Amino acid sequence: MNIRSLVLAGVVCLGLVGCRGYQTTNEPFHLNPNFDWQAKVKAQSNPRTVPEGTVAWGTGAIYDGNHTRPDFLKEDSEYYTGKTEAGLFVAKVPVNVTPELIKRGQERFNIYCAVCHNRAGTGKTPVISRGFVPPPDLADPRLVAVEDGYLFDVASNGVRSMPGYRRQVNEADRWAIVVYLRAIQKSRTASEQELPDSVRAKLQ
Ligand code: HEC
Repeated sequence: MNIRSLVLAGVVCLGLVGCRGYQTTNEPFHLNPNFDWQAKVKAQSNPRTVPEGTVAWGTGAIYDGNHTRPDFLKEDSEYYTGKTEAGLFVAKVPVNVTPELIKRGQERFNIYCAVCHNRAGTGKTPVISRGFVPPPDLADPRLVAVEDGYLFDVASNGVRSMPGYRRQVNEADRWAIVVYLRAIQKSRTASEQELPDSVRAKLQ
């Protein structure tokens, strides 16, 4: 191979690797564009943008026909957060207390809360021997004295080392749990005088 073809080969090589000896502000050449600059929806991303001037309701949930618009907007602060507009805990549950509600609360409490608090709320559960912070006695006078809204808030968002259950338990069931928690407290703190006559008769 003579010297001329060697130099020529060198020049061609330099040309191919783009070593042109000057800087450019142009974008590098994109060999495989792959729709990189195309308007598109990425996998797992929300394919719809909310049209201007509208309000989303029921995001993420499949509409079941049993709800009204305010249910989705969750504007009723007392019902959805247990707090008034001013941020104070509501004193009493904002729902009608019925025997069915208490039953529902009992069932939900035993499913979601009893693992750590046990069914009587004493908190003496095996989680402690596994290194968990011991849960307090739910019939403790301090917890009897707190507002219903506070208990709702604890069930929703947790407290210190206790996790919240707002994702697993909906608002209606969390209020049912609060009502049942009050029943547990009553069952463990009521005096004999507070018992109905029929029950007191059985005691004697
Ligand atoms: C994973 C275990 C666990 C579960 C499940 C659990 N708790 Fe707790 N809870 C705790 C622990 C631990 C504490 C004490 C937290 C601390 O003081 O760090 C606590 C504390 C509380 C308190 C007292 C708050 C205070 O002011 O001291 C209430 C009330 C309560 N839990 C209610 C509930 C209710 C209602 C549920 C069911 C929705 C529930 N817990 C489910 C572990 C649990």
